[in-house]
Amino acid sequence: MTSVNKVTRVLAGLWIAGISATVVAAQTQQPGEVTLPEAQAGQYQHQAPRLQDIETDPDLHPELRRVILKGRDLFMNTQQLRGEYVFNDMTCKSCHMGEGRMAWSGPVWPAATTLPDYRGKNGHVNSLEERIAGCFSYSMNGKAPEYGSDTMLALVAYHQYMAKGAKVYESNIAGRGFASLGKTIPEGTNDARGKQVYEANCAVCHGSDGAGKTADGQVVFPPLWGDGSYNWGAGMTRVFTAAAFIKNNMPLGQPGRLTDQEAWDVAYYINGHERPQDPRYTGDAKATREQFLNFHKATRYGTEVDGVVLGQHDNTGEKPFLKPANLKPRTFE
Ligand code: HEC
Ligand code: HEC
Repeated sequence: MTSVNKVTRVLAGLWIAGISATVVAAQTQQPGEVTLPEAQAGQYQHQAPRLQDIETDPDLHPELRRVILKGRDLFMNTQQLRGEYVFNDMTCKSCHMGEGRMAWSGPVWPAATTLPDYRGKNGHVNSLEERIAGCFSYSMNGKAPEYGSDTMLALVAYHQYMAKGAKVYESNIAGRGFASLGKTIPEGTNDARGKQVYEANCAVCHGSDGAGKTADGQVVFPPLWGDGSYNWGAGMTRVFTAAAFIKNNMPLGQPGRLTDQEAWDVAYYINGHERPQDPRYTGDAKATREQFLNFHKATRYGTEVDGVVLGQHDNTGEKPFLKPANLKPRTFE
């Protein structure tokens, strides 16, 4: 997590989004000081392979190489699954930036080295397929490709290859997740300041209405709220998760530019807007919040904003169902 990481982050931010530098230049007079968290002493670090490594690794059978590359393509262009498994404007790399390799941007390789593992979110031991299914169900407002299908296998192969050479069942991992600003929303965090931060730093790309931007039918800037965004069950609705992601990854190309409080305010503001229903909805948002309070205590779902209860509606966005069938409990009894 040294200067190499910082430089890579800035460049990656521009490259991966395929955005012309001018859009960003219009945003910033100054590149701004980039301050990403350092790895702590004793934390495990791993450099995930790059595209070039996949292409040239002599140990890969050509057929396996093809499958891993297919998985990478699905990860980078997940909109190809739109209408089948994906019902919003997201792509895996919208949140797992830098091809899912980047520290503090939810790198995906740790999942391949630490699963199967117990997850508090669903209260049972999850496989890697199930973990990927979770992001399909919530972040992509869709349903996962069938376990064992070609599409799922390709995605798993990509995740697994990203972990090549990494220690298995090592949990003290540097750069995992999005880095923490703490789990408690600081007192005084509010929508008014969040809106100001948003208008000044984010609206240029994500739109004043939070709907993002498309060009030639392609999503250029993903939405932050509304029907095209992640649903009310997604990890990003937790204000601390969004604040940490934003602090270390946004505005695009300028990670670390916002103060911690600005990141909290804007994360709070974004997640105070409507989005597709939580697949776990029981028909009452307040009751659903209570039932899944361990998760929802960190979200604004089921709470009042301007006298309206967030999430009290039947809108599932573009998705023609509420709960995907493969989102089910597992028991070993
Ligand atoms: C809207 C943002 C978003 C999108 C889009 C998204 N994810 Fe995630 N993902 C998250 C968050 C947030 C977490 C962290 C877990 C949490 O907070 O619940 C996560 C965690 C993960 C993990 C576990 C990482 C770890 O450290 O164990 C994997 C694997 C993963 N996502 C894969 C995917 C795949 C594959 C896709 C595309 C099909 C995808 N994600 C799309 C937000 C997203
Ligand atoms: C220069 C354009 C740009 C600016 C400015 C910008 N973003 Fe983004 N943002 C992106 C792009 C592009 C992605 C998706 C990353 C990718 O696909 O590589 C993204 C992804 C995101 C995501 C995760 C995906 C989603 O849609 O939920 C969040 C949250 C987010 N940005 C919040 C913000 C916030 C908050 C600000 C202002 C502080 C901001 N962004 C400023 C371009 C921008």
